[in-house]
Amino acid sequence: MITPKEIEVYCEAHSSPSPAIFSALDSETRSHAPGAWHMQVGSLEGRFLSLFARGIGAVRVLEFGTFTGCSTLHVALSLPENGKITTLDRDPAALSIAKKFWEQAGVTHKVESLLGDATASSERLEKEIRSGTRPHFDFAFIDADKRAYPAYFERALACVKKGGWILVDNVLWSGRVLNPRDPSDHALHRFNELRKSDQRVEQVILPIRDGVMLCLVL
Ligand SMILES: C[S@@+](CC[C@H](N)C(=O)[O-])C[C@H]1O[C@@H](n2cnc3c(N)ncnc32)[C@H](O)[C@@H]1O
Repeated sequence: MITPKEIEVYCEAHSSPSPAIFSALDSETRSHAPGAWHMQVGSLEGRFLSLFARGIGAVRVLEFGTFTGCSTLHVALSLPENGKITTLDRDPAALSIAKKFWEQAGVTHKVESLLGDATASSERLEKEIRSGTRPHFDFAFIDADKRAYPAYFERALACVKKGGWILVDNVLWSGRVLNPRDPSDHALHRFNELRKSDQRVEQVILPIRDGVMLCLVL
């Protein structure tokens, strides 16, 4: 989180509220993963993702990093009835919580969840797209293993249509990209540097929560 807590609270209080189910999902996630519940995108970024999906008229969405399903649910709720979010994660325990809440929210038919390593799963998706058995995605949201961001990004580029979007979470890494020390700090800083000169996209970093990079695929 890079914005002051009071600013985050103010923004949440002056944004359209998230449906009540998110409080129950948050409580269950906190008891399931007391040291990792903060990995959820949370209310403000969740609202951003759902409005973004609605704003671009997204029908097909690819997500790297499901966890207990918070961001997936925000997006799924704003997809049309024929829409689908394909979400990748390797954690079966977190996924079983996610599935319970997708069911409760009535969006199970809008979610395709692939359990396993996200690099391998996305490689399969890319092959299906190349062979014409699966359509391109309208946007991708990257929020899994930070050191694998360059690989996820290349995969997302291959899977998202031209004129589509790639959103990348945590690109400010609690501000540690300013003075990188450990391998994750360096990985994110390097990722941001690479995108700056990447002619395949046009991008902007927004200081929402932990930093969200918004890339238009050219
Ligand atoms: C930050 S959390 C995702 C949070 C989620 N977007 C939300 O809003 O709740 C990151 C997730 O990436 C998953 N992950 C990390 N490395 C992975 C890998 N190599 N393959 C698949 N999933 C991975 C973790 O299991 C974790 O659930």
